Amino acid sequence: MRTKEVIQSLHPYQPGKATSDVKREFGLNRIVKLASNENPFGCSSEVKKVLKNSLDDINFYPDGHSRQLRQKLADHIGVHEDSLIFGSGSDEIVQMLCRTFLEPGTNTVMASPTFPQYRHHAKIEGAEVREVPVKDGFHDLDSMLEEIDEHTRIIWLCTPNNPTGNYISETELFNFLKRCPEHVLIIIDEAYYEYVTAKDYPETIPLLKTYKNIMILRTFSKAYGLAGLRIGYGMADKFIIQSLNAVRGPFNTTSLTQKAALAALGDQSFIQYTREENKKNMQSLQAFCDEHNLGYYQSEGNFLLIHLPKSGMEVSQELLKHGFIVRPGELLGIDNTIRVTIGTKEDMNEFQQKLLLCL
Ligand SMILES: Cc1ncc(COP(=O)(O)O)c(C=O)c1O
Repeated sequence: MRTKEVIQSLHPYQPGKATSDVKREFGLNRIVKLASNENPFGCSSEVKKVLKNSLDDINFYPDGHSRQLRQKLADHIGVHEDSLIFGSGSDEIVQMLCRTFLEPGTNTVMASPTFPQYRHHAKIEGAEVREVPVKDGFHDLDSMLEEIDEHTRIIWLCTPNNPTGNYISETELFNFLKRCPEHVLIIIDEAYYEYVTAKDYPETIPLLKTYKNIMILRTFSKAYGLAGLRIGYGMADKFIIQSLNAVRGPFNTTSLTQKAALAALGDQSFIQYTREENKKNMQSLQAFCDEHNLGYYQSEGNFLLIHLPKSGMEVSQELLKHGFIVRPGELLGIDNTIRVTIGTKEDMNEFQQKLLLCL
């Protein structure tokens, strides 16, 4: 048997450590996972109610078109129903995009570090990956534009960027759009959209009318708290959506997932609560870092990338012994840092005490 050549040079995605494994390894009763930017407040209670009452239909295939969810979401965000596509997480849409647009002889431009799945799937399709280092955590949009040539098919803008948390301001984005050639598909990944409070964060949906080469990605995994169910969505011109539908599996989101997302969407008070708590707990973590001379990137997401006086790998290993799972920056492309998901107030207070013991 022979795989594609490139597969041998790729490493499978390394998820954050599982809580059950850490409990067993260190003989702990309680673990706080701050490693994968999940919602520490769970999800809307409406979701749980709906799921309990939805088990009778699981012998049937789901609605492959996600009609109900599509209608509700289109209405909620103000786009045409045909401009939407759903995926098993926005991860799957990234994969569909690469399958649809990339092939050997083409290239794709992205920041470094950024969400690693762009690179991963682009490589699998045999495309050249052009990575442009971030500047103080921000996308270097001028240098990214310089990397574009006639073979460029996709450029990825992750805003807020994972793992740095920095966002692209309205002025920066608008300038970029004016200068980016029309043959390049611009992906604006807004996985952390619901957390953003910055006043100059752009509202991108109206741009879909003017620019036919934009796709916006969002997810129910983060603020909506449905990471375990796997559902995300993309918004774009019909031509792009139709092309992606050609590679999409017919039943790529489940009936339970669609119902959960529908219920989650209907409970915006949960999103409001999540956003407010995240902001408060983010501010106290930043104040803690200031007090202890630990630098960090300005984040608009639900995570903070903190600079350390030593290896992030070492510190995260020490933190495990105290029951906290965080992501070492060495795995994300910025050494001597850790990326910490913003948790509940109580957990963050305890985390700060434990972090001091590990420095
Ligand atoms: C920037 C970004 N995009 C996309 C995703 C994928 O999210 P999901 O597949 O759960 O929708 C993540 C998850 O961490 C992310 O950080």
